[in-house]
Amino acid sequence: MPERVLVTGVAGFIGSHVAERLLSRGDLVVGVDNFDPFYPREEKERNLTAALENPSFRLVEANCADLRALEDELAHDGFDVIVHLAAKAGVRPSLEDPVGYVEANVVGTQVMLELARRKGVERFVFGSSSSVYGNSPRVPFTEADVGCTPISPYAATKAAGEILCRTYHALYGLGIVALRFFTVYGPRQRPDLAIRKFATLMLRGDPLPVFGDGSSERDYTWIDDITSGVLAAVDRTARVPGECEVINLGGNRSVSLKRLIELLAAAVGSEARLDVQQVQPGDVVRTCADITKASELLGYYPSVSIEEGIPRFVEWMRQAMAEYR
Ligand SMILES: NC(=O)c1ccc[n+]([C@@H]2O[C@H](COP(=O)([O-])OP(=O)(O)OC[C@H]3O[C@@H](n4cnc5c(N)ncnc54)[C@H](O)[C@@H]3O)[C@@H](O)[C@H]2O)c1
Repeated sequence: MPERVLVTGVAGFIGSHVAERLLSRGDLVVGVDNFDPFYPREEKERNLTAALENPSFRLVEANCADLRALEDELAHDGFDVIVHLAAKAGVRPSLEDPVGYVEANVVGTQVMLELARRKGVERFVFGSSSSVYGNSPRVPFTEADVGCTPISPYAATKAAGEILCRTYHALYGLGIVALRFFTVYGPRQRPDLAIRKFATLMLRGDPLPVFGDGSSERDYTWIDDITSGVLAAVDRTARVPGECEVINLGGNRSVSLKRLIELLAAAVGSEARLDVQQVQPGDVVRTCADITKASELLGYYPSVSIEEGIPRFVEWMRQAMAEYR
């Protein structure tokens, strides 16, 4: 049976891929997005090109933090599951606009949970983040690590979102899977993220602003692996109703910034010129996912290594830049 899925943040990087995968397996998708101006609307509209051609997709332009607007817009829709990915994303900008982040990410999550309750939706998948681990010294990061210590307003909003999810599970038995994504990359990646920013600058021959000495590490995850993990979580909420789980989705390997720049330079075919700057407040030293739980509960295993993913990403960048021109 096709599922009726509400996907928030559908015009964004991850949301648009998730919607396409759900549609391609025959599900019915209503997508919500407010086209937050963090990056250009035209880019988000392009992200939705394929979904909008599918008759099983409907786009609702609305703010996730506005319960009344959503109730009006979705008055005649029923859903089996909500995949809540809408958020103001990005660590550094959250220091400039902490109140806006709380409104979109904390109030937005509260509203989506309440919408689920009012509409009788029993399953909820929440897009959380590796940033909730902060600078945890226990590596790799495991979900059982209770010492979550966010060091940015963005990370705090994601930790708060998880707590709200747990509250709705405790009160109303809402089935929850909260997925902690570890730096996601691939076609349509957000323009503010390092891989996309660096590739753009390299293709133009401009210097790269590098914060710190290049030893910081990230666990990078290819978009198709994340999408598979999200769909597996959607399916798990149906297979094991009424549970509440937090699950890491990572690439299973940490890569230093220095190594990332080498891989990008090789794929672009140019020398990287670095503009070294101080480490930024809010940036963590490393992320590193323990994906044991994801593999046990979701059958998740990342299939694209950074060595394969970076050239694929640069190929997409070249095509996208040519199209934008
Ligand atoms: N990309 C990553 O590496 C990464 C890592 C960890 C967690 N996440 C989380 O995954 C989710 C998707 O991230 P992304 O990289 O695709 O970001 P994105 O910015 O491309 O997508 C987020 C979408 O949400 C929309 N949105 C923002 N506020 C909204 C609101 N109040 N109402 C309705 N829509 C709103 C935006 O317009 C955007 O289209 C976010 O929750 C983010 O925090 C992403």
